[in-house]
Amino acid sequence: MATVVIDTDPGTDDAIALIMALNSPELDIRGLTTVGGNARLTHTTANALRLLDRLGRPRIPVAAGASRPLRGAYEYGYGFHGSGGLTIPLRPVDGGPHALRAAEFIIDAGASVGPDLTLIALGPLTNVAHALQRRPELTMQLREIVVMGGAFEAGNVTPYAEFNIFNDPAAANVVFSSGVPITLIGLDLGRQVAFGKDQQDWAEGDTVGEQLAAEIVREWFDLHPDLPSYDLCDPLTLAGVIEPGLFRYTQAEVTVATTGPRTGETRAVFGSGPVKVATGVDVDAARALVIDRLKTPEA
Ligand code: RIB
Ligand code: CA
Repeated sequence: MATVVIDTDPGTDDAIALIMALNSPELDIRGLTTVGGNARLTHTTANALRLLDRLGRPRIPVAAGASRPLRGAYEYGYGFHGSGGLTIPLRPVDGGPHALRAAEFIIDAGASVGPDLTLIALGPLTNVAHALQRRPELTMQLREIVVMGGAFEAGNVTPYAEFNIFNDPAAANVVFSSGVPITLIGLDLGRQVAFGKDQQDWAEGDTVGEQLAAEIVREWFDLHPDLPSYDLCDPLTLAGVIEPGLFRYTQAEVTVATTGPRTGETRAVFGSGPVKVATGVDVDAARALVIDRLKTPEA
């Protein structure tokens, strides 16, 4: 059992990753922390609350975090994820976010769970960086940080930079140099695991989780009629937490460019270092795991 806090910017693929997490008995979810990125913080926080409500887990706390990066401003992903950050409207909820802000929530979880807390970071790393800067002893209380981010072949914001890292490169450098064991699952693998427009296996289920995921992705294809497939970046990262053995890794020192035309570029010196870079994955098995964990077990 892994005790986790999921830092997220829902976001359509975050939403699918959250469905997986809620259906995974291997994970003890202490809470979600939200960050700007795919959408404004107000939208990502509302989406997190509404997703938990729709999935029958409204008691999981959601702590709102950063509305801007350590430096500058986020470049939102509304064009990709839809207005409001999701491709479908979700029923508003009465409750609001947790009393603690995200960084404090992460610090509090680290102190109470002890050295077994795993952070899963699915958005820009601003909240995680704030928590590490505010409470340095957190580095001793985290088992690892599993990060969806980075690209070593080609970016998705610029030819060099992946969205999460591009949106807060300074925070990424704080996290990668913190001394906490990092597992980095990037775009190079995220692009290999996808739902095809003409595939039906992701659209057929009849449980709450399967139907919600299918609704989100079907509407995404309507929003992007020219695209043949939907990349499962955040869901693949959850697969990396649930079944790390599906991946191949190489240790590295990873730094991030913070200025100039290559801002957000992740640079790795492979061989040794605190970052375990996922360099390969069993694509079919990982995709099957994503589909399997969309299925909400009968209550
Ligand atoms: O580059 C893909 C990442 O950026 C995913 O986490 C997606 O949700 C966006 O946040
Ligand atoms: Ca995300």
